[in-house]
Amino acid sequence: MPTLKFAVLPGDYIGPEVMTEALRVLAHVAQQEGLTLDYKIADVGGAGIDNHGKALPDSTVKLCEESDAILFGSVGGPKWEKLPPKDQPERAALLPLRKHFTLFANIRPGLLYPELSDASPIKTERIPQGIDIVCIRELTGGLYFGLPKATTTLPDGDIQSVDTMVYRKSEIERITKTAIDAARARKKKLCSIDKANVLETSVLWRKTVTEYVAKNAPEIELSHMYVDNAAMQLVRSPNQFDVFVTENMFGDILSDEMACVCGSLGMLSSASLGTGKNSLGLSFGLFEPAGGTAPDIAGKGIANPCAQILSVALMLRYSFGLEKTAARIENAVRKAVTSGTRTGDIAFGKPSVGTVAMTDAIIANL
Ligand code: IPM
Ligand code: MG
Repeated sequence: MPTLKFAVLPGDYIGPEVMTEALRVLAHVAQQEGLTLDYKIADVGGAGIDNHGKALPDSTVKLCEESDAILFGSVGGPKWEKLPPKDQPERAALLPLRKHFTLFANIRPGLLYPELSDASPIKTERIPQGIDIVCIRELTGGLYFGLPKATTTLPDGDIQSVDTMVYRKSEIERITKTAIDAARARKKKLCSIDKANVLETSVLWRKTVTEYVAKNAPEIELSHMYVDNAAMQLVRSPNQFDVFVTENMFGDILSDEMACVCGSLGMLSSASLGTGKNSLGLSFGLFEPAGGTAPDIAGKGIANPCAQILSVALMLRYSFGLEKTAARIENAVRKAVTSGTRTGDIAFGKPSVGTVAMTDAIIANL
């Protein structure tokens, strides 16, 4: 049995609360299965700023470099909102971390268990079988990282800001490969989402995806959709998608929409993978809930820990090759929430429990 060597970066607000619960679940399965856990906890985000003067302390980066995976909580919040934008936790910690390890492939499973369909804003009769789709988001390119990125005062006194959307063919090809792998493991159906009627980067995106799939995966049924239409189709009929692939910003927006359609952002886990291998020869990755730090509910003990716990499952699957253990955790989450134990975000009028009780129910199903 391998030793699981990973870095734990809980971050801010609800980050540490849900991380504690995720580690409790992991300790439980480790004991059941005889796995050795070797993790160290480090500051990131606002906690990094407060304790080290830097959102991404050098010691945190070093710990991550020495680990086989990163289990990430969430960063940012009102406490640091007055800092210059480029020093704020999201931009100064999470984005550089993704870039440092070239974590270009973000996999976000959109899963709504049929028994939980009343938690979706979509009418239950439209999604009798629940929802089961996957968002593949490009994570290290596009508007998030393109240069120039600046705000300047013009000679006439007006102020101008610029963000730049850049994509290289090679960046599009490698995320297409990730999407093909995901589609091959499912229904062999892939939808690529862009704005090729307006954006130059999208024209290259569409051409590259089309050629790459034709050459490397002709068995995949490929379709294309403009992002505005995709936003509409996701709420109209989410299961028409199986795997969709899109650039960074579109993926950020569509994955929140997908999470909402699937019941709650509190259920959305994510894996960010790169080209790098860890010491086990498996994918080095960062695993995080896709929701934020939820400052409004922090400290109240009511945050949904499921997305963080499901991110542990993704870490076990991708970075440690423990598919069975990952599936056990996913099943335990499913059993717990579908047997009526729900946090407020998925309770909708039904009784709700807190973070700890939700985790206890998950552990009871392991
Ligand atoms: C996400 C988040 C981040 C993003 C923020 C916190 C920078 O919204 O992972 O979806 O925009 O990528
Ligand atoms: Mg987001």
